[in-house]
Amino acid sequence: MHVLIINGSPRVKKYSNTDKILERFTGGLCEEGSGEGNTFEQYEISDKGQWDTIREEYYRNSNIIIALPLFVECIPGLLMEFLESLKVREDNAAIAYILQSGFAEGVQLRCGETYLEELTKRLGCEYRGTLVKGSNFGIRLTEGKARDKITAPYEEMGREFSKTGNFFSDKCRAFTGPEVFPAFVRFLLGIMFKTAGRKSFDKAAKSWGCTLPLDYRPYD
Ligand SMILES: Cc1cc2nc3c(=O)[nH]c(=O)nc-3n(C[C@H](O)[C@H](O)[C@H](O)COP(=O)(O)O)c2cc1C
Repeated sequence: MHVLIINGSPRVKKYSNTDKILERFTGGLCEEGSGEGNTFEQYEISDKGQWDTIREEYYRNSNIIIALPLFVECIPGLLMEFLESLKVREDNAAIAYILQSGFAEGVQLRCGETYLEELTKRLGCEYRGTLVKGSNFGIRLTEGKARDKITAPYEEMGREFSKTGNFFSDKCRAFTGPEVFPAFVRFLLGIMFKTAGRKSFDKAAKSWGCTLPLDYRPYD
């Protein structure tokens, strides 16, 4: 199977969590043994200079995966702009999605998932499911083993896609993890975000050159 993969993050490849996820996913997809013979080509929506090529490849390929981060509970505007430029297809193309996000609970990604299913119909394609998972904030903030811990599970999903060609299996559904955390976990997380989480966001912002506080409100 040959798969066209589109990274729908507006972040450049080097800084994109989606890209790091795809690295592991495609490792599983094309693994020696189970995935032998599988091939893929990957493009980034963040590179507007590639849009003509991505469009051409989109019309040429019938096995497509669009991987995207959840941005404000929905799909990134730049990806939307690209998708709006596509014509409806009348052949037998199929699209599956890898929808990933920062926060962990599956429930916050479900609206996006429903939208992607509807979108696929509007593009005239067959819907092959959405792999839904949060807890990915840390990818960009970590390296080595800590990063591997977050991204490595996607290898198994690559193997699964290689077997089934979709994300409908029980394994893929279970991959999401908890839909909603129990109340006491939500309470603890609330405290963590206001203390340790806050500190680590501040540290990350500083390391990226941010000089003003994260809660800076110049128009207040
Ligand atoms: C503008 C913006 C909006 C975001 N909105 C959400 C959100 O609504 N829910 C969530 O869980 N994560 C949200 N995130 C976090 C991203 O989904 C997460 O960090 C993802 O792994 C980023 O992938 P990327 O680096 O490939 O863009 C947001 C991030 C940004 C920059």
